[in-house]
Amino acid sequence: MNSDIPLDDYLTFLKFKSISTDPEYKQDVLACADWLSKYLKKCGLDVERWETDGHPTLFATNLKAGPEKPTLLIYHHYDVQPVDPLNEWNSDPFEPVVKDGVVYARGASDNKGQCFYTLAALQKVKDLGFNLKLVIEGEEEVGSPGLHKLCEEKAEQLKADYLLIIDIDMPAKGVPGLTLGVRGITTMEIEVRGAKADLHSGGHGGMAYNPARALMETLVKCWDIEGKIAIPGFLESIQPIPVEELAKLDLDMDEKAYQEEFGVAILGGGKHANWLEPTIEINGFSSGYTGEGFKTIIPAVAKCKLSCRLVPGQDPDQIAALVADFLKAEMIPGMEMQIEMHHGGAAVRVGSNSPFVKLCADSLEKVFKKDCRFILSGGSIPISQALSRASGAEVLFLGMALPEDAIHSPNEHFDLDRLELGFLTLVELFKHL
Ligand code: BES
Ligand code: MN
Repeated sequence: MNSDIPLDDYLTFLKFKSISTDPEYKQDVLACADWLSKYLKKCGLDVERWETDGHPTLFATNLKAGPEKPTLLIYHHYDVQPVDPLNEWNSDPFEPVVKDGVVYARGASDNKGQCFYTLAALQKVKDLGFNLKLVIEGEEEVGSPGLHKLCEEKAEQLKADYLLIIDIDMPAKGVPGLTLGVRGITTMEIEVRGAKADLHSGGHGGMAYNPARALMETLVKCWDIEGKIAIPGFLESIQPIPVEELAKLDLDMDEKAYQEEFGVAILGGGKHANWLEPTIEINGFSSGYTGEGFKTIIPAVAKCKLSCRLVPGQDPDQIAALVADFLKAEMIPGMEMQIEMHHGGAAVRVGSNSPFVKLCADSLEKVFKKDCRFILSGGSIPISQALSRASGAEVLFLGMALPEDAIHSPNEHFDLDRLELGFLTLVELFKHL
């Protein structure tokens, strides 16, 4: 392991339970922000803490190069996803374990691991030939509501020439790449109520309609028999990718290996579907009694958490409204249905012909000693569009994560190798920007 990377500090960072979606962890998120704020100062940066209605964003700068020099803005997040199912973890998600060069903990990869190699590189290269601005937010995993507002209020301070969003995968182990776009996202929670309280399924079955059944029947109508999204208008506004941009992408995929690695039973489309097409996913579904044993009831309510991944041309709010209207129209009349919308963000795509892309590709190639590939991501970083607009900067996505890292899943991990590759790549970039 490279001795310029303070591994203990990374492990300390991982111990904070900065789960942004669950109010129970509010104090843990704040403690993480406090620690990080001090750490950024230790890295020689000036730090501002920007409060929001939720969790604070940290804004750290080194503007010593002066106004004549270009400004690079880097984005990370310190919040993490919930840890359940906890019993599927082999160790405590917030007591990092290092085993055979791999760190296991929630956030080890997404995004504390990636954030930490940036911080390590900043400690290594103190004399920057450019101005550096660093935004590290605490609400990425909930759609960045606070930072969306800050992008308007603090647009002046966020101004930059280049924006690197470092919260993304690399093409494959040992293969360097830059990501030229992410999908957008919109999320919502749906609740269907059929009765005042749970009912005996014998005493009421046949009379009272089951809301779990009603919700399932409505949800399946989102797709046609071929699996294509069937909500009117959903696919209409999509802007297809220009052929010359498509030609640059590395769409190769070993489908067998993918299915084996993840135990995926049925494969839909390949990378093309993941990068270039929208999806609707049921992220959670709950109704009735799911504990030990059995309970014969008709549940009073059924709930579902739904997200849509979006591509360029699709406006998150507009799509959310289309989906909600469709579900309401298709729901069996008389069932009480409520839909709560959450924050989302639009898809972003960038070109590959600029000097900044070239410089980042060169830094990667120098470290990896291999050609840099260009990819897209099926994931979303909801603030991407707003941050690129506020900063006025040219945006690019960089990352060392891999699908195998199990982000958002039990036993999330990140290898020290990739921590080091990220560190070396940024050191290289910082020296030449
Ligand atoms: N780092 C991910 C985005 C990502 C996912 C990149 C997969 C590459 C591959 C980011 O932290 C994330 O998880 N975003 C959420 C946003 C959502 C909760 C609003 C996502 O994509 O689900
Ligand atoms: Mn994430």
